[in-house]
Amino acid sequence: MEKTSLPKEAWGSRLGLILAMAGNAVGLGNFLRFPVQAVQNGGGAFIIPYLVCFLLLGIPLLFIEWSSGRYGGKFGNHSTPFILDSMGKRAVWKYIGVFGIFTNIGVVAYYTYIESWSFSYVLHALMGTFEGMSQSDVALFFEEYISLGSSTLGIPLEPLIFYILVLFINIYILSKGLGGIEKVAKIGMPLLILFGILLAVTAYRMGDSGRSAEFPDANAWDGFDFLWTPQFDSLTNPKVWLAAAGQIFFTLSVGMGTIQCYAAYLNSKDDIALNSVSAGFMNEFVEVVLGSAIVIPIAAGYLGIDWVLENAGFGMAFQTMPFLFQQWGEVFAAIAGVSWFGLLFFAGITSSLAMGTPWMGFMRDEFGWGKKRGAYSFGLLALIMGLPTVLFYQQGVFEEYDYWAGTVSLVVFALMESILFAWVFGINKGWSEITTGADIKVPQVYKFIIKYITPLLLLMVFLGALITPEGNDWAGNIQSLFSGQGWNLDPSSIIEKLYHSDIKIQLAASKSQEESQILEEKIWYSNFARTLLISLFLLICLLVFYANHKRKINIQ
Ligand code: PHE
Repeated sequence: MEKTSLPKEAWGSRLGLILAMAGNAVGLGNFLRFPVQAVQNGGGAFIIPYLVCFLLLGIPLLFIEWSSGRYGGKFGNHSTPFILDSMGKRAVWKYIGVFGIFTNIGVVAYYTYIESWSFSYVLHALMGTFEGMSQSDVALFFEEYISLGSSTLGIPLEPLIFYILVLFINIYILSKGLGGIEKVAKIGMPLLILFGILLAVTAYRMGDSGRSAEFPDANAWDGFDFLWTPQFDSLTNPKVWLAAAGQIFFTLSVGMGTIQCYAAYLNSKDDIALNSVSAGFMNEFVEVVLGSAIVIPIAAGYLGIDWVLENAGFGMAFQTMPFLFQQWGEVFAAIAGVSWFGLLFFAGITSSLAMGTPWMGFMRDEFGWGKKRGAYSFGLLALIMGLPTVLFYQQGVFEEYDYWAGTVSLVVFALMESILFAWVFGINKGWSEITTGADIKVPQVYKFIIKYITPLLLLMVFLGALITPEGNDWAGNIQSLFSGQGWNLDPSSIIEKLYHSDIKIQLAASKSQEESQILEEKIWYSNFARTLLISLFLLICLLVFYANHKRKINIQ
């Protein structure tokens, strides 16, 4: 009824679809998360597990999600609750599908915040805010920015204003439907690649020309070497494997529900095999070739690789890069700043737009909500969830969202959907979905991988994170288990995180009253963030329940 009154949504062209899907995948993860993960996990030692995970987890999950989406779309389902429902008979799949809406709203809340930093930093780069600043000034500028302190633009509460503005830009584009997303991807992706190449070439040509008396050993090439000298010693370290798998999830946007949603707007005979692999490889090119060639080499070129190893973190992009760009003279500093933060902005927005689509698809399918209503209600939810990340960034709300919605949920959902696809829906039916309309011959070995390897690996990744042993010492803990001394959990394991063990350890060691107070506050805010996340999850469950009820009545 309501359904038929709305015009059918579909992708405008194959190129548009691939760019939108690639834009969905290529995101902040490629430029901010990947270099940090690589550095923290041993550089060349990280790349091998990373590539193995791409082949054994990434590609199979892309196949699974694209084909599940197209399959669900045949029955008019555009979000995971009812896409999964169309594949499995049990009622529970609908509720597992809730993850595919929930994570997007949980992630978009903080993701658009980083996007808004990039947006405002583009303006600051143009205005020359960072001219003449020392490195610590630039770092301080960021600290003050996120604590809602200074406003160089003369705008009160600058981060908040930019956050709302960027969220609004997202909503506005979303309200134009798939066409809007396609348009942004067609402009944003080429620009992003252009900016990326410009910066990577600059890093490539830098060599040791950035050396200073303070860092006499600095050399950009050390940054490249560090990442591209394969090391085999850490292949047996589960921590590196977990990090590699986590990065593959995040960067390909699998386990989120956005790919299924995009694919649900395909026609039932459209190719998915070639399309999914093209979008996946495009993401890997941007991540492995461009993402690795900017932050680390440029920082290594000025500060030396040792400095990078010690200081690698997510803040580097905002706290170090603007200072380093200043070394290139006023004009090129502005160009580099606009390129870098512009690149981050485009990478971010093509991903955050994707996160709006599962909610919009769901509300449209089930309650007949049009694009405008869908987009604005999504914006409202994102704002409610997102304001605490802006206002209480330093109290850890942001991290809490990233951990539960942006990391743990992805693995849980991917595990469930891979079991559903290979074992409930059935690998034979699944395989025929993958190969129907395929423009390439999918290697038969993937049938085996999807059936056995991918679910098993996912299970291992999940269990590995759930019960990470103390000090990541698997061998030692297995021994201790068998000798009756039990299993000691690491504070970073999911179970210990649940009890705030990481914060409590710091609390026990804290030396001043003030420090303890800050830590206790952190626990409070982390519980607050969890309450919000759980409420969001339950709200979507309720909507699914109600939608299901409505469907039943309509059939009768
Ligand atoms: N893949 C995006 C990135 O690399 C993140 C993302 C996850 C986007 C899930 C959409 C959905 O930043």
